[in-house]
Amino acid sequence: MTKPFSLINELENQDTDPAHLKRNKIVSLLKKKFDFENSHLKPPNGKEKGILAKCFGYLAPDQAKELGIYPYFKEIEEIDGSRVVIDGKEAISVSTNNYLGLAQEPRVIEAARLALEKFGIGCTGSRFLNGTFNLHTNLEREISSFLNREDTIVMSTGFQANQGTISCLLGRKDVAFSDRENHASIYEGCAIAPGKTIRYQHNDMDHLEYCLKKHSDVEGKIILTDTVFSMSGDIANLPVIVKLAKDYGATVMIDEAHGLGIIGEQGRGVASYYNLENEIDLYMGTFSKSLGSIGGFISSKSKITEYIRHKASAFIFTAALPPASVAGVTEGLNIMISEPERINRLRENTAFIKRGFFDMGFQVNNNSIPIVPITIGEEALTLYLNRLLFDEGIFAGVAVSPVVPPLNAMIRTSYTSAHKQEDLEKVLGSFKKLGAKLGIISKG
Ligand SMILES: Cc1ncc(COP(=O)(O)O)c(C=O)c1O
Repeated sequence: MTKPFSLINELENQDTDPAHLKRNKIVSLLKKKFDFENSHLKPPNGKEKGILAKCFGYLAPDQAKELGIYPYFKEIEEIDGSRVVIDGKEAISVSTNNYLGLAQEPRVIEAARLALEKFGIGCTGSRFLNGTFNLHTNLEREISSFLNREDTIVMSTGFQANQGTISCLLGRKDVAFSDRENHASIYEGCAIAPGKTIRYQHNDMDHLEYCLKKHSDVEGKIILTDTVFSMSGDIANLPVIVKLAKDYGATVMIDEAHGLGIIGEQGRGVASYYNLENEIDLYMGTFSKSLGSIGGFISSKSKITEYIRHKASAFIFTAALPPASVAGVTEGLNIMISEPERINRLRENTAFIKRGFFDMGFQVNNNSIPIVPITIGEEALTLYLNRLLFDEGIFAGVAVSPVVPPLNAMIRTSYTSAHKQEDLEKVLGSFKKLGAKLGIISKG
């Protein structure tokens, strides 16, 4: 059972300094206890040699655990919508991608249960050879119809959908242009492909054009972008990306992991929001966010999916998505389409929480994306705040370098249609109280 704690009680309760001075004092006190940003510079203990020496010299997690501010791998004992139980303690989760509350929806569970009983717990093989069940092809047809695409391939994870698709398309002479904030699975796909990758500055369309121009003699070009960036909640500038793709003869592949179910007509994503669906060559999505499960897909023209189906290692050499997951996702997709009130509620919750954070003095993105990062800056302070939030009954996620640039550490909060008004008020209240306590915001 986690007990409320403090590392620096004496300063937190002192209110004589203005916020920024108090914050500086707190940060330097914390850094004396836990120098997260520089902990990787500490020499390994010297006894271990060879390839594994780095493991024994990797001390940051141990240090953070000892201080009680380690935020990762928390064991969730119970979950229901936006509520979790961790260490025997109930908390409101703002660390979830269950945007439409479908992960625990009874109709989804029932569909999964029926498939589980009929087909068993797994497919015990790759889609390619013996793991394609009629459930998979049915879901593929439903997604294609929903997105107005010729064809879809359901894969075992969203990560593999990106990795497999990119690595088999990006040939030796081709060049990929990838936003610097793109998801790791896009990076990995590029890294294992024989072609070259250019990373353009995040959402910087001038830089993208500069890169495209520099490679105008290359015939095979592809622009890769998340449509909603998973850490910042920024929306990609698809209108300009599509225009540049036309001007420079590039293919466009989008990752709608956080766009699907959130934005656009019926939740079809950012491409729909901008009315650009017909301009997108490859649409990648996941089932692990709005659809509450696991799995990913790629939708495109049939000739393109047919090629990927026979060439993508990450699809061919791995076991198929289990029947219960496929059936649950299929039911979830139908609910998402037939109950638009879920998306509406999500939008209302997002608007409410953003307004609340903005009024307190936190910088938030002025869009309808339910990913609301609260940038704190120093990593030790961020980890400490996160721990205090947990003690207040708020379970949030933390992003530190290298996931975000150094000194840009953030509490990544995200919201769902399942959050109630009182949950959101409690989240805001806790941020307000602790933000003032740690000198992050002024006492208002
Ligand atoms: C933008 C983006 N793309 C791809 C993925 C990978 O999806 P999955 O979790 O389904 O493997 C994620 C998940 O974190 C993501 O945020």
